[in-house]
Amino acid sequence: MQIARFSKIGFIMAATGSAVGLGNIWKFPYQAGKYGGGAFVLVYLITVLVVGFSIMLTEMLIGYLGRSDTFSNFEKLAPRHKAKWRYAGMQAFSSILIMAFYAVVIAWVLNYIVTSFSLLPSSVAQAKSTFSGMLQSGFFVQFFYLTVTFVIVTAVIARGIKGGIEKLNLVLMPLLFLIIGGMFLYATTFSAFSHAVTFMFRPDFTKLTTTAFVTAVGHAFFTLSLGMGAIMTYSASLQKGQSLVKSSLLIIFFDTLVAILAGLMLFTFLYQYGGKPSAGPGLVFISLPVIFYQMGGVGNFLSIIFFIALAFAAITSAVSLVEPTVQYFMDRNGWKRTKASVIIGLFFYIFGIVVIMSQTIHFSSYLTWGGRNLFSWLDYLTAALLLPLGGLVMSIFVGFIMPKSQVEKVLRPELGFLFNAWYFNIRYIAPILLMVVIVSLLSAQ
Ligand code: PHE
Repeated sequence: MQIARFSKIGFIMAATGSAVGLGNIWKFPYQAGKYGGGAFVLVYLITVLVVGFSIMLTEMLIGYLGRSDTFSNFEKLAPRHKAKWRYAGMQAFSSILIMAFYAVVIAWVLNYIVTSFSLLPSSVAQAKSTFSGMLQSGFFVQFFYLTVTFVIVTAVIARGIKGGIEKLNLVLMPLLFLIIGGMFLYATTFSAFSHAVTFMFRPDFTKLTTTAFVTAVGHAFFTLSLGMGAIMTYSASLQKGQSLVKSSLLIIFFDTLVAILAGLMLFTFLYQYGGKPSAGPGLVFISLPVIFYQMGGVGNFLSIIFFIALAFAAITSAVSLVEPTVQYFMDRNGWKRTKASVIIGLFFYIFGIVVIMSQTIHFSSYLTWGGRNLFSWLDYLTAALLLPLGGLVMSIFVGFIMPKSQVEKVLRPELGFLFNAWYFNIRYIAPILLMVVIVSLLSAQ
């Protein structure tokens, strides 16, 4: 049971901190680049607005009314079959699966902050070999920064909702906005800026394959931190009377803003210096450092603040990935917060070590199945399958299982005449869309 409560602004910042992460600055630009820009961005924006908003409201409602860990929330709110419904709370465990590879990317980011102080790579070939060198034979560097990540995240969570999570976000989020905003403004002074705008906003539907569509929907969930208990767990500490609708809209607004600003900025730099948007996951770690090199002295500075911003974004999300499981063990097993934080921290830390090994030359063959190594399996399965599945379960739960009167009591005063549209959406539209996504994913395999 949650006793500590976020302040109003603390909740908005913490939930925005959860949403804005590697997804916005690392994943979104390379996915948009890979799937042809405009059409992908359009599907993503529509999903964020129509499904993302509705599901975020649904998830917040469950947390706000349940006031506990994810398992207890479903159990409390189900009118019948309580014991069975509690398993819907298993979605909290998806977050720890995400954390296992997320923490590894944070380790790369921390390493890149430090290396940005010295020499940047002068060619794509050099940048590639630095990056793949780190993955394939830089076990100890990754291990070192993974340890730093483990220590930071565990220390913050152990300090609790107010003293740890809220404080961290109140400091880091404004700094993050400042850096991304400043770098975006700088990018608008380049001639390639208009090229970047055209690329991101002119839809070319011939590029919109089924994979692109599923990826866009999966990413909308990933970027808004939906379907795995993060928003639900934070909402359990919402103050009474704080508007769920306004909070959701603000979080979605900030999250989308950062993705778009970061995308425009990166594509401007790429076009200006002859890089390709479709470079794939290496966009930020390979193409970008070379561009910073070409910029000269200012490039080092930009590289340092860019990776610092990325680290801030990622750490505030990482905290929200671990908190749901910590909350579970506190509520259901009676563990103290410190004990829960350390044990769950060790879990993702050790899992993270295996993820690092899955990309090294020596071990990758043992940790690769069907052409994907452990890292990409976790990434793929969580974003494309587990998060939409979590969303599907929540929309069915609030749409069909919880008594309508209970839902209406909280949300009708907030949504007014839009209540019926929202309710219809989470009963029929969102579940059908999510089922299509899940089925097409499974059949594509
Ligand atoms: N939303 C975060 C990002 O975009 C990732 C995340 C997913 C965090 C799910 C919490 C829950 O990077």
